[in-house]
Amino acid sequence: MRPEEALALLRWQVAIGADEAIDDVAIDRTAFEEPPAPPRPAPTSRAPATVAHGGATVIPVRRAPPAAMPAAGGVSSAELAAAAQDIAQLEAAVGAFEGCALRGTATNLVFADGNPQAEVMLIGEAPGAEEDRLGKPFVGVSGQLLDRMLATIGLDRKKAYITNILPWRPPGNRKPTAAEIAMCLPFVRRHVELVDPRLLIFVGGTAASAMLDRPEGIMKLRGRWYQYRTEAGSKTIDAMCIFHPAFLLRSPGQKRDAWRDLLAIRSRLVTPD
Ligand code: URA
Repeated sequence: MRPEEALALLRWQVAIGADEAIDDVAIDRTAFEEPPAPPRPAPTSRAPATVAHGGATVIPVRRAPPAAMPAAGGVSSAELAAAAQDIAQLEAAVGAFEGCALRGTATNLVFADGNPQAEVMLIGEAPGAEEDRLGKPFVGVSGQLLDRMLATIGLDRKKAYITNILPWRPPGNRKPTAAEIAMCLPFVRRHVELVDPRLLIFVGGTAASAMLDRPEGIMKLRGRWYQYRTEAGSKTIDAMCIFHPAFLLRSPGQKRDAWRDLLAIRSRLVTPD
């Protein structure tokens, strides 16, 4: 291949988002068998909307199946997460977890930002390039829009706590795989238990369907309240799903609905429990 052809090929790869060199030699993933899917509980009929609260319909969520994915070193994310007794221990456990290959391609662990004592906890999808560089969630262009969205309802990083489903950037900002989500979910669920917020906000479809264990996309999930049940099952937390700011940047026509959701969150925050 001539040098200018190689350069053109590299430019094309960067343009389609393949901007990380993961290995010297290409891996033929078709040569591997898919690991068996983790056992799922017997299907139950979807619980109907039951409670009216603050003018919005509240839908109890299905309990997410425990994702006890074994890690390479033998200790699963679920075991590590359950052993963490506070946020600092959880961050150390995530940092030490070797079961997720994304750890090897990311520059930094992106654990959380904001105030862990806040009433509101936001959960996004995964770090992007800027987050990976700085080790903080939502600090790139979409994070700046998220900050502006929060400011419209009187929130900032002193009054909110922010994390992601995945603590490491997927190369080229690709969508997280189902296996990566299942592997990291026990950490996020434990994170929620340790922070124990009054309200949860799931930012974007990936976070919403992972945390609520529901197959619908964000168009269906946004705009109503859910009861998120904690891992121990002892507690429920009001949860709302909102559009991801990256989606709003691409589809500004959806900002009207995004504003409605923000107003619902604000009105829940000013309503005493
Ligand atoms: N998108 C996310 O979902 N999370 C981030 O931290 C940044 C962008």
